[in-house]
Amino acid sequence: MTPKTPAPCMVVIFGATGDLAKRKLLPALYNLANRQRLPEEFTVVGAGREPITHDAYREKVRRDLAEFGPPVADPALAAWFHARVFSAFETPDDLETYASLARRLNPSDAGSAAANVVFYLAVPPSAVADIVGRLGDLGLLEEHEGAWRRVIVEKPFGYDLASARALNQRLLAHLAERQIYRIDHYLGKETVQNLMAFRFANGIFEPVWNRRYIDHVQITVAETVGVEDRGGYYDRAGALRDMVQNHLFQLLALTAMEPPNSFQADAVRDERVKVLNAIHLCTPEEVMMSVVRGQYAAGDGLPGYRQERDVARDSTTETFIALKLLVENWRWADVPFYLRTGKRLPARVSEVSVQFRGAPLRLFRGQAVGDVEPNVLVMRIQPDEGIALRLQAKVPGEQFRLGAVDMDFDYADYFESRPNTGYETLLHDCLMGDQTLFHRADMVEAGWTVVAPILDILQAAPSALLHPYPAHAWGPAAADRLLANDGRQWRTVAHHSSRGRHDRSASQGV
Ligand code: BG6
Repeated sequence: MTPKTPAPCMVVIFGATGDLAKRKLLPALYNLANRQRLPEEFTVVGAGREPITHDAYREKVRRDLAEFGPPVADPALAAWFHARVFSAFETPDDLETYASLARRLNPSDAGSAAANVVFYLAVPPSAVADIVGRLGDLGLLEEHEGAWRRVIVEKPFGYDLASARALNQRLLAHLAERQIYRIDHYLGKETVQNLMAFRFANGIFEPVWNRRYIDHVQITVAETVGVEDRGGYYDRAGALRDMVQNHLFQLLALTAMEPPNSFQADAVRDERVKVLNAIHLCTPEEVMMSVVRGQYAAGDGLPGYRQERDVARDSTTETFIALKLLVENWRWADVPFYLRTGKRLPARVSEVSVQFRGAPLRLFRGQAVGDVEPNVLVMRIQPDEGIALRLQAKVPGEQFRLGAVDMDFDYADYFESRPNTGYETLLHDCLMGDQTLFHRADMVEAGWTVVAPILDILQAAPSALLHPYPAHAWGPAAADRLLANDGRQWRTVAHHSSRGRHDRSASQGV
């Protein structure tokens, strides 16, 4: 067991007045303070572009927390937290900002908050390498006498394989890999981590977790919102870069990985990266057969993607993507993994569903019992976190009929919920020096390698594979054909509620 409270330390947030800092990072730090997960000697230092005094910054943090943080239950704790907030950017002079930061961080001050430092780069990707370069040149990334210096880098990590490699190289010129924490907020979600608990703490699933028993896997990450105010960023990214290369690939890796030898960070990350390295790299012809892109049209009183702010009127960026991948290893050969994600879809749902093969002998064939649905194990990541196993049961009555029923575990029924932004675990892990839930350089590059054949096609023909879809539909019809061509269909993802449990619409014979 690792100790629960980190050593004295300082968190320096670059982009301190930005959206991420106010909506997620500061509330997450505050929640950690509330759970006694921060050391007594702790400081938050904001750094950014616009000059702001300590007092003004502290006041801003107070306002942001009032808006985005949990309700203040303990005024003494709130006072403790606010007294630890400082600004490193009191002047408009960029050099002076770094100089003031350097004065704050005294490497010889071993055992003080200023010796152990996390630099959180909540800044646009183009600024990351420069900030790390400057910190490195000033010697602020050097670790002295057991003290540590760590850097958290937000996604997107690169734009393609070449830029991700270049960024890795620039960071590694100033930092060791063990100092770099490439964050993926999906890995901070409890239910994503639960994929590992579920697989490796329950011996009954492992024997059937392979190609002999599993027909295919579906991973869905659906959002109801459009691009909102992020058109400028999103129009250059699209769903493939924004969601698939990172979040969905991590869900796939956790579902498909081999059991690690231990829960040490690199043992777990080695297994995750092996899965990504085993994904079949599509030829251009295969890309055309196994990828569908979509873009939401206007509807339901909402603008279409091309009408959104900061989006090109003739944009060919996808807001939906569905793809079929094959993991070419002993366990998964020939088991398709179907991934789909998109914006302006009918529900906000993230889930991994594992569809098992049918019973070996179709005993009920011709018996007028209704179709025999195969078993499906659904791991719901959000909302309504939980796990359900779909089984076949006899419908009561004189006639022998089958109906689908769910054996259902709902997180909310067993565990108390508490204020959570999704960043608490990741920030705490970083303060503790645990890199398990962060991307390693090779993982990022493996992810980009898999999507490279798709990006190549799009570079040559930007509108390739793109279909419009109506607002609040499950993407374009071509996404259904992707599975229909294999004799399969997307699972009907219904909004699940722990109270009105069973989704009878999807059952038969009931
Ligand atoms: C982000 C993407 O990484 O994840 C966004 O950039 C997306 O486009 C978001 O909306 C989804 O996260 P969550 O936690 O709401 O599923």
